[in-house]
Amino acid sequence: MNALNSIRSLTPVGPRINSQRLWEHICAMADIGATAKGGVNRQALTTEDTRGRMLLLQWASCRGYQASIDPIGNLFIRRPGKSPDLSPVLTGSHLDSQPTGGKFDGVYGVLAGLEVLETLDDHGIETERPLELIVWMNEEGSRFPPPTMGSAVAAGALPLADALAIKDVDGIDVQDALKIQLAELPVLETRALDMSGFAYIEAHIEQGPVLESQACDVGVVTGIQGLHAYEIQLLGAEAHAGTTPLRHRKDALVAATTLIARIRAAMDDPEDILRFTVGRLEVYPGSPNTVPGRVTFNIDLRHPDPDFLLRADEKILQLCAGEVEGCPVSAKVLLRSTPVTFDDRVVATVRNAAGGRAMKFLDIVSGATHDAKYTAEHIPTGMIFVPCEKGISHNEAENAREVDVAAGAQVLCDAMLAIMSAQL
Ligand code: GLV
Ligand code: MN
Ligand code: MN
Repeated sequence: MNALNSIRSLTPVGPRINSQRLWEHICAMADIGATAKGGVNRQALTTEDTRGRMLLLQWASCRGYQASIDPIGNLFIRRPGKSPDLSPVLTGSHLDSQPTGGKFDGVYGVLAGLEVLETLDDHGIETERPLELIVWMNEEGSRFPPPTMGSAVAAGALPLADALAIKDVDGIDVQDALKIQLAELPVLETRALDMSGFAYIEAHIEQGPVLESQACDVGVVTGIQGLHAYEIQLLGAEAHAGTTPLRHRKDALVAATTLIARIRAAMDDPEDILRFTVGRLEVYPGSPNTVPGRVTFNIDLRHPDPDFLLRADEKILQLCAGEVEGCPVSAKVLLRSTPVTFDDRVVATVRNAAGGRAMKFLDIVSGATHDAKYTAEHIPTGMIFVPCEKGISHNEAENAREVDVAAGAQVLCDAMLAIMSAQL
């Protein structure tokens, strides 16, 4: 871990970002995978994701930035520094979306990062350290669970081979989907898996209602709650829907609904802080007149307290042992990611950057997960949130105001420069 001194002044340190260009970039990216209801569907390693990456690479190449890619598909765009051997100051987020996602989740952090790099060019500012913009692969985990796959692999929390073998609902694995994407992208320099850097700061929409309700310009993120992800499978037996009496069936779907109801009851939290979601259920063979022979579903479980999360984990695994209504159950833990607290010095830098622009800001813990969770295990990390309309996210109606996304990008620019000039 490298040492950063706390930042000295509350005065703005950076040039003004170009808010109009940032907004135009967000709108251009929103056209890729645009849905009829105003959102986007640009899931990881689909054609739309590839097109999004190509557009970003075009913008980057106009500026002469170097691009490279690692074995799990994390994409790096580098603006050189005066001292190329110094470790870079990093920013980034993701371009992949939920199937019914919005225009800002992830995209905003990538384009705010690009805006920082371009602003420095516009003002002829050379930095001592290189700056790197990272597009993490498959942050959403909707096509290929779990979420934050690219950063988890880079951090060594998920073995590369395990991640490459994960399949989507059509049986295509990450390895093959990645090969297809690489064949379509311009030839990129390859680099080894690595999670190092001087500091990492990610900008993101809040995805909750707090900043908007308190009329804040930005949120200073102090950490992220923990997240566990599971895949549960029940095995029944396919049978004819018209001839097989109910008591002779092994109906995997009926068993799954019973099991989900049991787990939901066990997850009841009087304080309502625990988050329990079954967002995906696959029924095999998926025919109206065949009793389901196999059901697979995913659980997403979150809480800010690691012990609470582990107790919930134990209950889930107990309930998923043995059989339910004659159907054997098996449980696979896809991810156990503990809550993180961000680096005090980076958090203070973000706070000072917001203060330096006389913005109204608030310290906030993230309920959503982000790649910053994995960078934080290896690199001094912080995040900046901007308000989003009514806190709506993972929804095509997701929205944010131009003035707010500009404020967050300005804080990102100032904070990255402030970190850069911190004394070691
Ligand atoms: C990220 O999209 C999350 O699930 O929090
Ligand atoms: Mn996101
Ligand atoms: Mn998301």
